[in-house]
Amino acid sequence: MERYVDACGAELARAYEDGLGDATTVFVGGGTPSRLGPDLLARLVAGVRRVPSAEVTVECNPESTTADLLAALREAGVTRISLGVQSLKGHVLAGLGRAQEPGSVERAVALVGAAGFTSFSVDLVYGGAGETDRDWIDTVEGVLALDPPPPHVSAYALTVEPGTPLARDASRHPDDDTQADRYLAVDERLAAAGLDWYEISNFARLGHECRHNLACWRQADYRGIGCAAHSHRAGRRSWNVRSVDRYVDVVERGASPLAGEEVLDARRRELERLELSLRTRGGVPAASLPDDPELRPLVARGGGRAVLTARGRLLANEVAMRLRPDAELDGERPAPAAAPGGPAGLLRSVAGSGR
Ligand SMILES: C[S@@+](CC[C@H](N)C(=O)[O-])C[C@H]1O[C@@H](n2cnc3c(N)ncnc32)[C@H](O)[C@@H]1O
Repeated sequence: MERYVDACGAELARAYEDGLGDATTVFVGGGTPSRLGPDLLARLVAGVRRVPSAEVTVECNPESTTADLLAALREAGVTRISLGVQSLKGHVLAGLGRAQEPGSVERAVALVGAAGFTSFSVDLVYGGAGETDRDWIDTVEGVLALDPPPPHVSAYALTVEPGTPLARDASRHPDDDTQADRYLAVDERLAAAGLDWYEISNFARLGHECRHNLACWRQADYRGIGCAAHSHRAGRRSWNVRSVDRYVDVVERGASPLAGEEVLDARRRELERLELSLRTRGGVPAASLPDDPELRPLVARGGGRAVLTARGRLLANEVAMRLRPDAELDGERPAPAAAPGGPAGLLRSVAGSGR
């Protein structure tokens, strides 16, 4: 772990030599950073130069969230904690291949509040094997009843990633219609508690939206550090080698951990801008979607914008297939090949952390 944190520091130092500026937001996530423990994690965070008002989020799992860790993170300038809760039901967690001691979520949330973090988020996943509608509603209501209650919740539809044990076991795959009901159930309950959707899978009290994720959805530049980290700069996307071992090895040898890159042409970039924007509450310019009867229940129009309705959010990829990136220029539809993900499925529409 120490070698990994040092390698991240070395990659960062080279990025500063190459002119990387101060961060306006920082997100430490993927995997479970809290496993590093207070000293290493604080060292990692402290190495990132940022503006004084920066939002700094660290992902933690409930079991590895301790008072010492949270105190060290506050000291290192962390402003926001994202807790990977997934479910409050033991059998659902077991179905997701995760174990959690009973009471660990309540304990972790109380520690986050006691440490003085005023903004934090809880991640939930619906559609795990053995989860009933009641289990899901209990989880959502249980999360809203936490003390302190989370001002931000991410609720993801379980995504079946190719090449995973889940992909190989069809009996554990969630059903699209069940998932649609679960999405509507969480949306309704969170909205009633004052947490409105601001992106398909993300809900927050006003002022608690994750600025980091909003920046990614607005195609801002970002610099990824670490294994499998992705970066974006003005239409050029790049990514690092995936495994921890390879990453440490390459960086220690003084070589670049870059594994690949792609450059988006102007049309592709504009289409992605609209696709990302469509998933958010800001929606897209009304002219970028045809005003066709089929889309009317899916899209609300007003003030020159088109915004997904709750039903539209279930079918967001269907709507995205109709986006016209250059409607103002030539009134043409994008070629089908330019639309992402092939035929739109509900699962892909409601799932995904957007990263
Ligand atoms: C980048 S992950 C953070 C890693 C986190 N510590 C964990 O244990 O997964 C962010 C969130 O993505 C969600 N997630 C992970 N795997 C998923 C899947 N297969 N489908 C949908 N959401 C998933 C979980 O809610 C997780 O907390």
